[in-house]
Amino acid sequence: MDDQAPLESLTAHPQEQLKTLAQIPHPRIPLPADLYPDRRNSRGMDLSDVRALSALDEQWQVLSGPSIPPVTDASIESALEGAFHYTEQWRLTDVNFRAGCLEALADLLEERMPHLIALCCQEGRKSIPDGVAEVREAVDFCRYYAAQARQLFDPQALPGPTGESNQWRLRGRGVFVCISPWNFPLAIFLGQISAALVAGNTVIAKPAEQTPAIAWMATQLMYQAGIPEQALYLLAGDAGTGARLVKDSRVAGVAFTGSELTARRINQALASREAAIATLIAETGGLNAMLVDSSALLEQVVVDVLRSGFQSAGQRCSALRILLVQEDVAPALIELLRGAMDELIIGDPADLATDVGPVIDENALASLYEHIDYLEGNARLLKCCELSDSLSDTLYFAPRLYEISRIEQLSREVFGPIVHLLRFRASDLDRVIDQINATGYGLTFGIHSRISSRAQTIASRINAGNVYVNRNMIGAVVGVQPFGGSGLSGTGPKAGGPLYLTRFTNEQSISIDT
Ligand code: NAD
Ligand code: ALA
Repeated sequence: MDDQAPLESLTAHPQEQLKTLAQIPHPRIPLPADLYPDRRNSRGMDLSDVRALSALDEQWQVLSGPSIPPVTDASIESALEGAFHYTEQWRLTDVNFRAGCLEALADLLEERMPHLIALCCQEGRKSIPDGVAEVREAVDFCRYYAAQARQLFDPQALPGPTGESNQWRLRGRGVFVCISPWNFPLAIFLGQISAALVAGNTVIAKPAEQTPAIAWMATQLMYQAGIPEQALYLLAGDAGTGARLVKDSRVAGVAFTGSELTARRINQALASREAAIATLIAETGGLNAMLVDSSALLEQVVVDVLRSGFQSAGQRCSALRILLVQEDVAPALIELLRGAMDELIIGDPADLATDVGPVIDENALASLYEHIDYLEGNARLLKCCELSDSLSDTLYFAPRLYEISRIEQLSREVFGPIVHLLRFRASDLDRVIDQINATGYGLTFGIHSRISSRAQTIASRINAGNVYVNRNMIGAVVGVQPFGGSGLSGTGPKAGGPLYLTRFTNEQSISIDT
């Protein structure tokens, strides 16, 4: 087998990346079957399969099969033309067929779980637990959207006078471009696509340039699950590919997850088209805060801060960025956090003991160093974890806890393992909530308080899509915590929620004089 063969057909950036990834030792650590008992709606997955992580060698054989097609002018045009011409046929397919494809895909994802976890670890630099969660979320999206579609796409009879029959139904909009980020290279990639397809749209998928192989494998599984090739096109290109797609008049909608800046660019591109007005579903980042009052159980707060701020190396849109602590308990909490941060294991994502792995690439690392340069003169470093010598000069970034004096010191999302602590007086609680709302972001918010009426009041005042009380604030479960924000954090509707599919549709009413 020639391991390099498929790599040569990739565009320059992913090609280099895959070559590097190919050199990373394969994780071979078995997972205990009861590691994730709390994923309530991931049904029947056999975690013992994950023991087959030695199948990682096989993974590279899979990748050396058909190669990931390079993106060219011709392939962009062919995807647009193909997707556009197939819209009517796909929209008219029975929703049960489309939903059945997603259910078959969920089964295939479960069968391929070890491979997919392996790819998430290798290409996406995920830890094994994050890889497991990623595949489970993808499966949940498929099953949830399939079930939703079966209900939603049933035409509804509406009332009318005698002699008139009225009906209301949802239909696909046309061609959807689905643009996804690298930090959930499987779950968000498939979540967007499966929603768009099951709602009756054809799809052109543009994954992040950092994770083309996961996207390629997921697309193959979609075809295997029964999605026709004319309904789904993969263009594993760069930002320029995405920019070209969203300008095209044949595109009826864009589902985007990524940074706020890119969302703005896409919005502008869609607005400047002379074609029909397209819909944009944008899910972006956050300046997420957790508020700890003096009634909070500090030991629990510590666990939840570490998980919310540092799991996945802080590279989650939901991750904790600003820790608001009532001043009475701040010294005790800081002491506990310092001690707990000493215990964090920073290392190989393939090692099950690892708490914090590397960041995705040099650009991510550079922007974190730029941020700590800014903090130098503006904040107090409370704790910086130690990196072992072998990890210096690599993509590892030591988790840090800073103390800031004003929320306004942070104006944009910082995408990595840095938590900013701010003390507040009890009398300032309302003002602090106003200031968090004034950032304009509104994704996740955590509350640690044992005064339930206070937690309820804060939850009702805060502009955040997902509020978590007395627990961590990451890892929303499909159908349980529908996920997404508003303002600078996104347009809604929420992924994994009951309204998500509707945004991918047009409504039609039919009135017949009988
Ligand atoms: P990004 O915005 O840099 O890229 C996202 C995608 O957009 C990539 O596929 C990229 O190629 C494409 N793109 C870039 N410029 C484009 C343009 N002008 N036109 C069309 N497409 C373009 O984001 P990223 O670094 O990949 O992902 C991290 C960001 O995603 C963070 O801000 C994070 O908060 C956010 N995110 C949000 C959610 C959510 O559900 N709200 C989930 C995951 C990640
Ligand atoms: N849905 C992901 C989470 O909740 C981003 O962490």
